[in-house]
Amino acid sequence: MRLSGKLVVLRDDRRDADDEDLFRWLNLEEWQYYDEPDQPFRLVTREEFEHDLTERWRHPAAQPPTSHQWQIDCHGSRHIGWGNYYHLDEQAQKAYVGICLPEEEVWEHGYGTEAVRLVVDYLFRKMNLKEVRTATWTGNKRMMRCAEKSGFQVAARMPHSAKCSVRGALLERIEFSISREEWLAQEGGRR
Ligand SMILES: CC(C)(COP(=O)(O)OP(=O)(O)OC[C@H]1O[C@@H](n2cnc3c(N)ncnc32)[C@H](O)[C@@H]1OP(=O)(O)O)[C@@H](O)C(=O)NCCC(=O)NCCS
Repeated sequence: MRLSGKLVVLRDDRRDADDEDLFRWLNLEEWQYYDEPDQPFRLVTREEFEHDLTERWRHPAAQPPTSHQWQIDCHGSRHIGWGNYYHLDEQAQKAYVGICLPEEEVWEHGYGTEAVRLVVDYLFRKMNLKEVRTATWTGNKRMMRCAEKSGFQVAARMPHSAKCSVRGALLERIEFSISREEWLAQEGGRR
């Protein structure tokens, strides 16, 4: 399944080269700080990668049924990251959207926001969900702005699992939400 925008394409078919990208990305520190600010960074060896980590990326069956992941390409070909939905609650018709672009040089070009919007649109229009959330921590200004630009509003602020980040910043979890009605009204206004 492909979700196509003006800047990025989300695909759920995997390519051999994706694994090499992932290995390189897992050895970059900065994005992992923003993603998991309470986890100390450590390099991943080729052996660890081959034995453990590729499993959950290579085999869709290894992903929980409440989640789905897409790889993100920009300009039709360069692989720049991944996006997903997770914690899908079919009864409540809710899910969370996540996004990650590991290479700093692709940040702040609008790719993240477009990718989030494509997943959210899919969740509301194709999966008929009622509410979509996204979560980050208050030090992740890019992700907060990305959520805001996509039409999300702050739904909750709560303590993070750890008090301080590994770099000493205070941690607070922040969740954003958008309803199906809000999304469709917003998208109607754009057309
Ligand atoms: C978070 C992430 C997905 C956002 O994607 P992106 O392509 O960089 O985001 P966009 O370019 O669409 O938007 C970023 C916005 O943040 C703004 N921004 C950047 N630094 C900022 C700061 N310090 N304060 C406020 N806004 C800031 C940018 O100006 C831009 O807003 P604008 O278009 O109004 O100018 C991406 O940067 C990323 O993957 N980062 C590393 C991993 C991560 O944080 N993942 C999310 C974990 S919850």
